[in-house]
Amino acid sequence: MMNQHVQQVVPFSLKDAPSLIERIFPSMKISAESQKERKAGAGQTLTRLGSYWKGRKPLILVKACILGCLLPATDDPEKDLEVFELLMGIDDEAFRFRIKRTSDYEQLLTASYDERVTKVLRPEEVDGDMFSGIWPTVNRHLGTHADSFTALLEQLGLMRFGHRPIVADTFAGGGSIPFEAARLGCNVYASDLNPIACMLTWGGLNLVGATKEYGQEFASAQKSLVDAVEAEITRLGVEHDSDGNRAKAYLYCLETKCPVTGWMVPMLPSRIISKARNVVVDLVPNHESKRYDFQLRVGVDAAALKDSENGTVQGGRLVHAMNPDPTGVSIAQIRGDKRKADGSGNSLRRWEKADVVPRPDDILQERLFCIQWIDGTDLRRGKSLSRSRAWFAVPTDADLVREGKVTSLVTEKLAEWQHKGFVPDMPIEPGDKTDEPIRTRGWTYWHHLFNPRQVLMHALLIVRRQR
Ligand SMILES: C[S@@+](CC[C@H](N)C(=O)[O-])C[C@H]1O[C@@H](n2cnc3c(N)ncnc32)[C@H](O)[C@@H]1O
Repeated sequence: MMNQHVQQVVPFSLKDAPSLIERIFPSMKISAESQKERKAGAGQTLTRLGSYWKGRKPLILVKACILGCLLPATDDPEKDLEVFELLMGIDDEAFRFRIKRTSDYEQLLTASYDERVTKVLRPEEVDGDMFSGIWPTVNRHLGTHADSFTALLEQLGLMRFGHRPIVADTFAGGGSIPFEAARLGCNVYASDLNPIACMLTWGGLNLVGATKEYGQEFASAQKSLVDAVEAEITRLGVEHDSDGNRAKAYLYCLETKCPVTGWMVPMLPSRIISKARNVVVDLVPNHESKRYDFQLRVGVDAAALKDSENGTVQGGRLVHAMNPDPTGVSIAQIRGDKRKADGSGNSLRRWEKADVVPRPDDILQERLFCIQWIDGTDLRRGKSLSRSRAWFAVPTDADLVREGKVTSLVTEKLAEWQHKGFVPDMPIEPGDKTDEPIRTRGWTYWHHLFNPRQVLMHALLIVRRQR
């Protein structure tokens, strides 16, 4: 039955036909288009899901590769290229739709392709009309009868493989490849080692690719959830100070006892807190406690910023003012690394399932050294987080009390949250990549990768979502 259907709609097989990408690929044009998409920054289709994911393939490049693999290279290469360019929206005619002002068209055609693309919309930004006139030419050349990309891809898939094309991307990253493949009409499978990559890929397919109505529904559900968690955080009083200012970021460092001096030393690869606001942290020796106090300098000049690039961790060694030896002590020595063939042995205590912070006698301690605050008055007046006044400060005694409250709360609830599945409870499997947290921090369970504030936030999000 299926074969009859294929017979009826597909006049010839492409099973062994060479792909267009093997013979022709207008790389100059695709490169200019890819560059344009990259430069669109926040205007790119997938960036709003995670702008920090830098390595996304431009969608236009993905589209070119998928079409290039499916389309056949025939004995009429000129026509092959013409059809490919029509489908990509990079032919001269497409620029009639891509220009922002009709009067620019003639002038545009005399410019180089690189110049042209800077002045127009990206093909994906133009509505469906741009492609509506291309199908007769495309169908005549390919022997298809498509009136959309989905139909064309389905038919080319049948001609090549006997089914709709399937794209599997096992290194999906920011999800460009599965997103564009699905948008074109392929069936897609995607996975990645990195759970953030999986989340971004899921978001691309299910949120960016969703209908407007679903998008609105999702945004409103998301806002209710965020509001509920914010109310709970406010009730617990763990992220606000007594003036109602709101913490936005907590900066932690490791701290360890220097075996030469007996001083506790914060392990900071750099002392720069914010390059944008020229804020650095200085370590002030406190001879009584044999520990360093933190002091911030705000609005420092370029030379001071440069000087602060050097922290106490330099080239695998711990270097600090109270040690007269400027070469410091090797961190491997502090950890007690043993020369085992697999490099795994050292003196770090292996954390246990119930641990959420280091124990007092652990070699590596953790220390909060800076908080970024947002002005509570601005927030109460309805200003957004990004528009409200913000500043950095070293933690006060009251901040450390709040810190302790979070740790106690998480310690008390951890087993219950793990039992209910709100917080990860699995041991870290040994492996090439996963040995590193075990070896360098003594972490043995996945939840050790998160500090108590992160565990708390995660649990609250899940608890509230379930209500
Ligand atoms: C260059 S990125 C992929 C970028 C992606 N094509 C995009 O457009 O965003 C490579 C990805 O491979 C993933 N990766 C590396 N080793 C892996 C492995 N052994 N198994 C699965 N994924 C892995 C990384 O987590 C990373 O997200």
